[in-house]
Formats: sequence, C-alpha cells, structure tokens
Amino acid sequence: MNFSNKNILVTGASSGIGYSLVKKLAAEKCNLALAARREEILDELAGQLKNTGSKIIAFPCDVTIKEEVKRTIDEIVNQFGSIDLAILNSGVSTRSPINFYNSDDAKKIFDVNVIGLVNCLEALLPYYIKNRKGIIAGVSSLADGRGFPKSGFYCASKAAASLILESVRIELAEHNVKVITVKPGFVKTPMTGKNDFKMPFLMDVEKAAQIIMDGIKKEKRIIQFPLPTVLGAKILKMLPDSIFDLIAKRT
Ligand SMILES: NC(=O)c1ccc[n+]([C@@H]2O[C@H](COP(=O)([O-])OP(=O)(O)OC[C@H]3O[C@@H](n4cnc5c(N)ncnc54)[C@H](OP(=O)(O)O)[C@@H]3O)[C@@H](O)[C@H]2O)c1
Repeated sequence: MNFSNKNILVTGASSGIGYSLVKKLAAEKCNLALAARREEILDELAGQLKNTGSKIIAFPCDVTIKEEVKRTIDEIVNQFGSIDLAILNSGVSTRSPINFYNSDDAKKIFDVNVIGLVNCLEALLPYYIKNRKGIIAGVSSLADGRGFPKSGFYCASKAAASLILESVRIELAEHNVKVITVKPGFVKTPMTGKNDFKMPFLMDVEKAAQIIMDGIKKEKRIIQFPLPTVLGAKILKMLPDSIFDLIAKRT
C-alpha cells in the first residue's frame, strides 16, 4: 500500500507507537483520522503536523464504548468518503501478580485490548466489505503466545486479539480486504516506562513505527519485531510446559 492520498485511521494516536506512526504517516501526505480519549493531545499533534500537507482530524473516542466507536467511524467515513487503512492500536497493560490478583484489572485490560478491538472491527467491517478493498492492521504483541508470570491478563488479552485478527483475516480475504497482525516486542513508550523489570531488546519507538509502516506498505500478514524477541517467543511457544515453567520462573 502506498500511503499517499489514503484515508487512514489510527487508534491510540495520543501516545507511544500510535503517536509516532501518525507523525511518520503525516509526512506521506494522506488523510489522517486520529482517535484516543485524550482529545487535547490529539489536537496538539494535529496542530504540530498542519504544514505537512496531510489532512488531519482528531476524534475523541473511547474504544470500550461501542456507540462512540460506531459514531466515530461513521463520522470519519462521512468526512473522508472511506477508510483505506485502519491501524487499531489502542491498548493498555497492567501487571497481574498473584498477591494483587483482581478481576477489575482483568476487565479493564480485556475491555480495551479485546472488546475495544472488536468494537472497532464491528463498526469497520460493513464499510470494508462494501468497498472490497483496504487494510486493517491490529496491534497485538509477541506476548500473545505464553502466559508470562505476573502478566497473565495482558498475555491473554493479546492472545485473544491475535486470534480474532487471524480469524477475520481469513474471512476478509475473499472480500479483497487484508488484515495485518502487528506483534511488537518491547518498545520504549509510556506503557513500558512504568515497567520495573528488565525488558530485553527494548526498541526505540521511532524505529518500531518505521518497521510497522514498512510492513504495512508490503502488506505483510504479520509484522513482528525485533528478530531476537520473535525467535525467543517462537522457541518459548514450542517448548514443553515443564521447561517453559523453569525458564519463566528464573527470568
Ligand atoms: N510498548 C510495547 O512494548 C508494546 C509491545 C507490544 C505491544 N504493544 C501494543 O502496542 C499498542 C500501543 O502501545 P504503546 O506502547 O504505544 O502504549 P501507550 O504509549 O500507553 O499508548 C496507548 C494508546 O492507547 C490509547 N488507549 C488506551 N485506552 C484507550 C481507550 N479506552 N480508548 C481509546 N484509546 C485508548 C491511549 O490513548 P488515551 O489514553 O488518550 O485514550 C494511547 O494513545 C498497544 O496495543 C500495546 O498493547 C506495545
């Protein structure tokens, strides 16, 4: 996909990976719809990028609220005419150690990372199926393959996201719509800034955004990075449970 003149939605555009993606996409002269809850940050970002030649509109939107998501997507289609690329990137993380085990935390994570994704897909699918073209890129994680200690809620939410994306990818192919699953390893953003553990191969957010842009351009099925974390995740997934338990406990 060539981004120039395309109508592009980025959710979670107010911070981290989404924010960096917006800055890079704006340089490609496209029509950008930015969505997140913090409207003031979106407005400020749109203002910063006003001389890029891209049309940028900010939409305050909480992805956990179905009606708000539908209204936002309808409004974007109303203003731009269509959506060619939807980057569904909104996400939250939390630690879930057994001594602070709390279903409220699980609900919050699933509401954004799973139901938020589904709310976006529900609102987008009729447009994509009707147009018979375009790309949906959902941001999952390399944490989707195993239940890492103290991160069970996050890993489970990303496993659900990856499977949901995989399932619609196969169905949408016959409608000429591509679905891309983005699986980053650790990226330096406000989300990981609060982590108090060692994050192997932590990547700069600008580099991560560039890899995602390049992968979308090539219309890859899966965009996953960095390579050492991709290989590590694949090996951990294949290991017998007894060996995974030993490694996970030690690290
Ligand atoms: N950073 C990493 O190492 C890493 C690794 C793998 C996967 N990921 C995934 O990459 C995506 C982006 O993460 P990030 O690291 O860039 O995190 P971040 O800096 O914390 O940004 C998260 C974004 O999601 C938005 N968001 C959160 N709750 C929302 C809601 N209810 N409705 C709408 N938007 C909401 C936030 O905007 P508002 O608060 O303004 O709503 C923000 O723009 C997430 O899906 C994350 O799980 C990140």
